[in-house]
Amino acid sequence: MITISQMRRDDSHGILDVAGALTEWFDIDARKRAIPIDLCFQEGYVAKDECCIVGFITLYVAEGRVNIGWIGVHPAYHRKGIGGDLIAAAELFCRENGINELATYTLGDSVDYAPYQATRAFYFKHGFQIYQRSQTDNPGCPEEIRIKKYIRI
Ligand SMILES: CC(C)(COP(=O)(O)OP(=O)(O)OC[C@H]1O[C@@H](n2cnc3c(N)ncnc32)[C@H](O)[C@@H]1OP(=O)(O)O)[C@@H](O)C(=O)NCCC(=O)NCCS
Repeated sequence: MITISQMRRDDSHGILDVAGALTEWFDIDARKRAIPIDLCFQEGYVAKDECCIVGFITLYVAEGRVNIGWIGVHPAYHRKGIGGDLIAAAELFCRENGINELATYTLGDSVDYAPYQATRAFYFKHGFQIYQRSQTDNPGCPEEIRIKKYIRI
């Protein structure tokens, strides 16, 4: 059975194992540098199958929004609703803190890269809408879309 619980500092190894299985989405800099650092500073939730971490979402508050720092579900568990459960946990975090927007950014749809088409489909299915597009000089992410979801509080 899958359970969702608040992320603890000692969940880092399990989270990094899941991130390590998502190399089509998270490059080596994300997996080896950015995610480990951010895990020390962000809050979040983990999905566990028994006691094994199979998914995670991290959150931080900025500009009056709850922002998703990182989200990932182990490929063996995709399309079973776990990502949706993690978004639901983030929405609860928004409500508990009286913040009515949940936001993040991802690769824009002008970039033809199948893994992120799935990511965008996921976010749009869960009610996120684009509020800003920008071109970047990052070759790994030439177009970025900022997306958010209104949370009734
Ligand atoms: C995005 C992610 C967290 C979704 O997790 P998940 O547990 O598979 O998500 P859910 O099962 O709750 O939702 C699945 C929905 O997302 C969409 N979706 C997911 N994968 C898809 C795919 N390959 N093609 C099309 N739609 C897809 C569909 O709408 C799907 O609903 P359906 O199965 O009823 O058709 C997971 O795919 C993942 O770990 N991706 C890699 C990391 C990532 O993209 N992080 C965000 C970076 S910005």
